[in-house]
Amino acid sequence: MTSMKRLSLAVVVPVLLKRLRFAVVAPVLLGLTAVSWAFPWDKDMVDQPSAKPQESEAPMDSSGVPVKGGETLPAPVTEAGMFEAKDAAVLLENPVPATPESVALGEYLFTINCLVCHGADGTGTGPVGLLLATAPVDMNDAYTQDQADGQLFFTITRGRVTMPYYRDALSVEERWHVVNYMRSAFGSQ
Ligand code: HEC
Repeated sequence: MTSMKRLSLAVVVPVLLKRLRFAVVAPVLLGLTAVSWAFPWDKDMVDQPSAKPQESEAPMDSSGVPVKGGETLPAPVTEAGMFEAKDAAVLLENPVPATPESVALGEYLFTINCLVCHGADGTGTGPVGLLLATAPVDMNDAYTQDQADGQLFFTITRGRVTMPYYRDALSVEERWHVVNYMRSAFGSQ
């Protein structure tokens, strides 16, 4: 009898210990998952300034639409539309004088946003630019330098093929600083 009891204990205790280990490990793992959900980038898509459904507080009159200081370019939705809009952007005037301060700011923003592809010398040989199937343009070439400021602004605003757009990352003024920098730094080599 006692030996039976011992035997059953010998079987039951390790099984219980195993279960216990699971009981301890499982909540810890689940807890970690919950913690990882709390990382800030998990909510990037939700934390936008846009109004969520049923949440819009925009007044329902004309003052609800920004007419001053916002985007002045049409938002094309087709490839042909992109070309037309880029042509139309010839007429956009650069409102930011190319002062040394503006050019310096432009260099700073170019280094952060554009250098990876276009390279510090604008030749398109940045570390990411070298990996792209279609090489970024050489900004020193006439193709880029002969474009109007407004067209360069357009490309920065809307992007082009594999080039991302910067209308969310750079303010309107910052984009003009970058244009001023591109004019002053490239093209004369
Ligand atoms: C991910 C890589 C990448 C980044 C980052 C990038 N570009 Fe480009 N850019 C390209 C590629 C590729 C092209 C050529 C697109 C094509 O095939 O027409 C290009 C083209 C251009 C052109 C010429 C457009 C034209 O055809 O008229 C300009 C101007 C330009 N980029 C400016 C910038 C500026 C300014 C920045 C930073 C604000 C920037 N790019 C960031 C990849 C990039």
